[in-house]
Amino acid sequence: MCGICCILVLAPQEGVSTHDIVGKDMFESLQRRGPNCSQQLSKEVPELGYNIFLSGHVLHMRGCLNPQPLQDTQGNLLLWNGEIFGGIEIGPEANDTLIILQHLSSCKNEESILSVFSTIQGPWTFIYYQAFSHCLWFGRDFFGRRSLLWQFKNAENLCLTLTSVSQSVSKCGNFPWQEVPACGLYKIDLQKNTSGNALAISWYPWKYRPIEYEFKTFHLGEEVQFIEEVPSFVSVFLNGSKLFPIVPITPMNYSVCETHTSSCEASSVNVESFLSDEKKILVHKFINVLSESVRRRVLFLPRCQIPTSSQFTISTKAKVAILFSGGVDSMVLAALADHHIPQDEPIDLLNVAFKQQKTSTKQKKKSNASRAPEEETVQDDNSSLNETTSFNVPDRITGLSGLKELQIINPARKWNFIEINITLEELKEMRQQRIRNLVQPLDTVLDDSIGCAVWFAARGIGTRTSNGEIQPYTSSAKVVLTGIGADEQLAGYSRHRVCYQTSGFEGLVKELGMELGRISSRNLGRDDRVIGDHGKEARFPFLDEAVVSFLNALPVWEKADLTLPRGIGEKLLLRMAAKELGLTASAVLPKRAMQFGSRIAKMENHKEKASDKCNRLLQSSID
Ligand SMILES: *[C@@H]1O[C@H](CO)[C@@H](O)[C@H](O)[C@H]1NC(C)=O
Ligand SMILES: *[C@@H]1O[C@H](CO)[C@@H](O)[C@H](O)[C@H]1NC(C)=O
Ligand SMILES: *[C@@H]1O[C@H](CO)[C@@H](O)[C@H](O)[C@H]1NC(C)=O
Ligand SMILES: *[C@@H]1O[C@H](CO)[C@@H](O)[C@H](O)[C@H]1NC(C)=O
Ligand SMILES: *[C@@H]1O[C@H](CO)[C@@H](O)[C@H](O)[C@H]1NC(C)=O
Ligand SMILES: *[C@@H]1O[C@H](CO)[C@@H](O)[C@H](O)[C@H]1NC(C)=O
Ligand SMILES: *[C@@H]1O[C@H](CO)[C@@H](O)[C@H](O)[C@H]1NC(C)=O
Ligand SMILES: *[C@@H]1O[C@H](CO)[C@@H](O)[C@H](O)[C@H]1NC(C)=O
Ligand SMILES: *[C@@H]1O[C@H](CO)[C@@H](O)[C@H](O)[C@H]1NC(C)=O
Repeated sequence: MCGICCILVLAPQEGVSTHDIVGKDMFESLQRRGPNCSQQLSKEVPELGYNIFLSGHVLHMRGCLNPQPLQDTQGNLLLWNGEIFGGIEIGPEANDTLIILQHLSSCKNEESILSVFSTIQGPWTFIYYQAFSHCLWFGRDFFGRRSLLWQFKNAENLCLTLTSVSQSVSKCGNFPWQEVPACGLYKIDLQKNTSGNALAISWYPWKYRPIEYEFKTFHLGEEVQFIEEVPSFVSVFLNGSKLFPIVPITPMNYSVCETHTSSCEASSVNVESFLSDEKKILVHKFINVLSESVRRRVLFLPRCQIPTSSQFTISTKAKVAILFSGGVDSMVLAALADHHIPQDEPIDLLNVAFKQQKTSTKQKKKSNASRAPEEETVQDDNSSLNETTSFNVPDRITGLSGLKELQIINPARKWNFIEINITLEELKEMRQQRIRNLVQPLDTVLDDSIGCAVWFAARGIGTRTSNGEIQPYTSSAKVVLTGIGADEQLAGYSRHRVCYQTSGFEGLVKELGMELGRISSRNLGRDDRVIGDHGKEARFPFLDEAVVSFLNALPVWEKADLTLPRGIGEKLLLRMAAKELGLTASAVLPKRAMQFGSRIAKMENHKEKASDKCNRLLQSSID
């Protein structure tokens, strides 16, 4: 993970230094993402009337540490926050930043730049200044797995800020931050549009190959509209030359088969009963592609090269952690990570619990009427709550039984189950200090709950029980795997069941296609900012290009069978994979959303809806 920031000022007044523009708290937030090396650089081009200021903060992950912004001999400048997991050749010890810059340096036109970003597989955000053409390029990968925000100002100067993370809520004034839409690449031609009072951005939207698909699905002939709102002094336009970056995945298989019916009586089902020999072939293909995705995300980390003389030194610190609820998504990730991580290296399982409050009987009655099924599976009885049992939230209980399953699968592995217990006081304090700035510009009750839960989980400070003794523990793993994307692709949410009941496979597959399309703006930018704040890197194995392509190509009924009960029908393919990997009870746990499983949603206001604006994110820092 890195923190990157670029400030472009048009028609700058003389003597005004761009250096002062990155406020202290934005600088510190960027530095938290990239603690290993910070550098700044400014480029002033008075003859064309623009200044560019770049600030790069690097978290060292692989190869030699490469300070950013990186500059080549032609004066091109690159800020890169990403990982190459495929598409472009990169050795285990190579610098990915350097390799991207080498590719970009050799690009002489737009087409070749677009082709570089059509090729890379993996999460990325970049900002690239091409010196000879005076063009500033930027963008996010197709899923938006890395955060990038923009803010346009026209106060004294016209000014564009691009940054991984913004400054505190109270300092935005009239110029709101927005996530840069992960819907293509952008270019600003500074030779053309530097009048000083307007900014024009060329937009290169992602397109599927083959183009015929695009015609069928999105009616390319018609003008594509840029949907995000930008201020009136900014225009975003399509270049008429029809150049575009190519979507790195296979399009969704929208075919629906009218004759498909559930193969089994719903009364006596278990996952095994679906594992016919034919089905097993499909399940193993899925396991292979997901396993490769996990492999790419857990290897190539800076593991101490063990010289032959000291080959008995074993690393005792985990390099990889997993956001772990014990549900089927995190269990499958843990089981696959176990296949690839060196045997002597521990794996940290991060399990977060928010202290349960005593609730009055009155409140309880009210609250269960409107519950979604994924809210609850555990009896809500506060009678026995005390200092220790109040952290026994549903995710803690399933997490502990998940741990036992993993210990059976691989007893030789050191599984560090980290119990992260959070009180209301600590939640309030850290939300105020850090989390609300990271969640921004998202602002709902759901963003608050998930943002806070993920922030505390990823921080990895809690306790570990070792030989019957509870010890304080801080995870030092820089890579954090999360299961996000499994529910969106494999119909894991209860809304998918509703959708299937009302509009069948056709409605369901459309819903899944739509959800994958909005995952960047709903989840990924936020989760990246929240996890990156600890100087750690979020990695999303279910959103690997090959995994998504594999799942997209399958017809929807191979992924889920929503005529079957909860705990089986949703994410059926993943549950079968879990069984094949040797998992047992966890393979059939019904979906439980993190905000309910960790009990954070119960801590403060019980009456809110998830989609309401969250006032707690807005409170000014004075009160
Ligand atoms: C990078 O920074 C982290 C946190 O400050 C530190 O633990 C780590 O040793 C640093 N790595 C290198 C290669 O400097
Ligand atoms: C990585 O980058 C640094 C700094 O640019 C350079 O000195 C080093 O040789 C590079 N390493 C590799 C393996 O390319
Ligand atoms: C920017 O440049 C383009 C192409 O030259 C032109 O069509 C457009 O009107 C310009 N926009 C502004 C705001 O100057
Ligand atoms: C579109 O791109 C082409 C090719 O680089 C360029 O010649 C042309 O000026 C661009 N058009 C606009 C409106 O910027
Ligand atoms: C509330 O939950 C209890 C226990 O699960 C159940 O018996 C009761 O019918 C529910 N009440 C409503 C209004 O759904
Ligand atoms: C839960 O705790 C509250 C406050 O102590 C008490 O009033 C209520 O009766 C308890 N509910 C149950 C079911 O024990
Ligand atoms: C907390 O409650 C549990 C279950 O009722 C009980 O076994 C335990 O001894 C209690 N612990 C304390 C510290 O009161
Ligand atoms: C955290 O909660 C668990 C219950 O899930 C409890 O056993 C443990 O003692 C708690 N640890 C701390 C440090 O409070
Ligand atoms: C979609 O699924 C159907 C049914 O299995 C299959 O026949 C078809 O080839 C698939 N289409 C694509 C584009 O993969």
